[in-house]
Amino acid sequence: MKTLLKIDQECFPPGVSYNLEELTEFVRHPSSRTWVVEAEGAVGGFLIAHRDSPASAHIITIDVLEKWRRQGMGNLLIYVAENWAIRRGLRRMVLETSEQNSAAQRFYRARGYRHVRTIPHYYSDGSAAWVMTKDFDAAR
Ligand SMILES: CC(C)(COP(=O)(O)OP(=O)(O)OC[C@H]1O[C@@H](n2cnc3c(N)ncnc32)[C@H](O)[C@@H]1OP(=O)(O)O)[C@@H](O)C(=O)NCCC(=O)NCCS
Repeated sequence: MKTLLKIDQECFPPGVSYNLEELTEFVRHPSSRTWVVEAEGAVGGFLIAHRDSPASAHIITIDVLEKWRRQGMGNLLIYVAENWAIRRGLRRMVLETSEQNSAAQRFYRARGYRHVRTIPHYYSDGSAAWVMTKDFDAAR
């Protein structure tokens, strides 16, 4: 768990990154799944998804260490998470990302996610979140 915490703290600013208790709760939740990608014998990135309802799953976080970015790890992680959701008959993936995180917004758009609304003051640092969704029926 400490490895994932360290990666999350490297990927997100304080106030946006999770603490150990939050991360542990997400990973251990019976409706959640966590995937990690290893490179050169160490974890380079991970994704936690949570089944929210009979129809939808939520991406809790996706984190790729800076040295491994733009090499397909993010795509691999989100692909397996979407397939996990599709195999369970879910129709939609939902996520929040910071309004200021243009790299993540481009990443999600490239995978067919749409910005559906903005939640002001979502993060504890006061920044707003974009809610983005992907309907599997429409996308595949
Ligand atoms: C967002 C993130 C997970 C992407 O991971 P990644 O491994 O770099 O993504 P990939 O290499 O699979 O990129 C897939 C595509 O997404 C788009 N993309 C990814 N990062 C991008 C960036 N910084 N700028 C523009 N487009 C980007 C591109 O279309 C890219 O394809 P290309 O490299 O062939 O052009 C990674 O940047 C990250 O961990 N960031 C910090 C944490 C974060 O913001 N997480 C998401 C918010 S919850």
